[in-house]
Amino acid sequence: RFGTMEVKENLLHIGGISTEKLVEEYGSPLYVMDQCLIEENMNKFKRGFQSNKFQTEIIYASKAFLTMAMCQLVAREGLSMDAVSGGEVFTAREAGFPMEKIYFHGNNKGAEEIELALESKVGTIIVDNPGELELLEELCRKGNSKVRILLRVNPGIEAHTHEYIQTSKYCSKFGESIFDETIEGFIERASKSQYISLDGFHCHIGSQIFDEAPYLVAIETMVEFAAKIKRKTGYSAKVLNMGGGFGVYYSKGDDALDIEDITSKMIEHLERKIDEYQVEIERVMIEPGRSIVANAGTTLYRVGGLKTTYSGKKYVFIDGGMTDNIRPALYQAEYEGSIANRMTDPTTELVTVAGKCCESGDVIMKDTLLQKCQVGDILAVGSTGAYNYSMASNYNRITKPAVVFVGSGESKLVVKRETYMDLIKNDIKLY
Ligand code: LLP
Repeated sequence: RFGTMEVKENLLHIGGISTEKLVEEYGSPLYVMDQCLIEENMNKFKRGFQSNKFQTEIIYASKAFLTMAMCQLVAREGLSMDAVSGGEVFTAREAGFPMEKIYFHGNNKGAEEIELALESKVGTIIVDNPGELELLEELCRKGNSKVRILLRVNPGIEAHTHEYIQTSKYCSKFGESIFDETIEGFIERASKSQYISLDGFHCHIGSQIFDEAPYLVAIETMVEFAAKIKRKTGYSAKVLNMGGGFGVYYSKGDDALDIEDITSKMIEHLERKIDEYQVEIERVMIEPGRSIVANAGTTLYRVGGLKTTYSGKKYVFIDGGMTDNIRPALYQAEYEGSIANRMTDPTTELVTVAGKCCESGDVIMKDTLLQKCQVGDILAVGSTGAYNYSMASNYNRITKPAVVFVGSGESKLVVKRETYMDLIKNDIKLY
């Protein structure tokens, strides 16, 4: 479930390497990414999401996990990439990622970010609203450039997931509602602009979705919308981007989503609906982030302390916490873990794993059964590959962990551990 893991002599190995060795070599906490599993996840999307009626494209949503090494891996596997900020665009550019395969998102792109995207020859910009369209046209006019765009629309589909990561309800800040009457004028304006080329529409209905139903509803809604726009304005969309959101296993109670199955069902539905509504869609994209990296990631921590409170609650203290994994505090996300150097020990205990931040909510696993452990042991927490490193912070001036890729018995450092000097490098003293 958590990557290519195996247990040898009581010790957890990831990608063929002992977790003890990894912590000795790179320190802790440590983000370990199983490269083979990332590749396998990408391949599942490639196998499932293909059609002989239209072209398909898999766009990795880099917000889930982005480093220069990851850009190289995405490029090598032939996927495109979604970027949502100047920083993500810049990272891709510096890594040598083919910029025509970048899709630049965001509901409030700044002029400098758009200029960076235009200069870097980003392939497609996803325009969120009419104000942004104006800004983009102005910058294209200034730079004498032309750019391809998709319009982000909100199809009003509510996928069942945590409130913070639902993006498609009517009150969402993202995109223009397909039910808003002004949308036709917006599309007409965009389709006639001399500075941009409007390829089609984008939507994203939420994250951590396990059910195919909302995707199928979104597909029909988007195809029907394209048909309506064609009828009313004459503009015929060629491209549909259906966004990401494919759910992953974190802990007991989560389903294990079959990527090939759900994506091939989406393809069948798309083929049927494109025929039925007689639209001229030539290319369809999806934008998975989490489902490509989440289960490939494991975080390794050292146990630094054990405490039983007056009330009898047992705590295991680790040398990281909400600074490397904010998700339990932010979304009540649940994780599973094991004591990596006691994998086959029969004695377990109900414990709460807490981090080292000055914050009661700094808990990584609440009331969880773990092998009875000692100070100095290694805790491995699974499914931490998505939105952990990318959402890491320096709260309490805690340095961010290193990231290492593993596979076939080898490890490669891809992000160095932050140092105390990194923490003060932008500080300017008053006196
Ligand atoms: N495309 C768009 C336009 C998105 O907004 C997102 C995620 C994705 C693709 C990728 O979604 P995924 O396949 O990764 O579910 N920080 C939250 C997740 C926020 C997702 C935001 N948008 C978390 O840790 O759960």
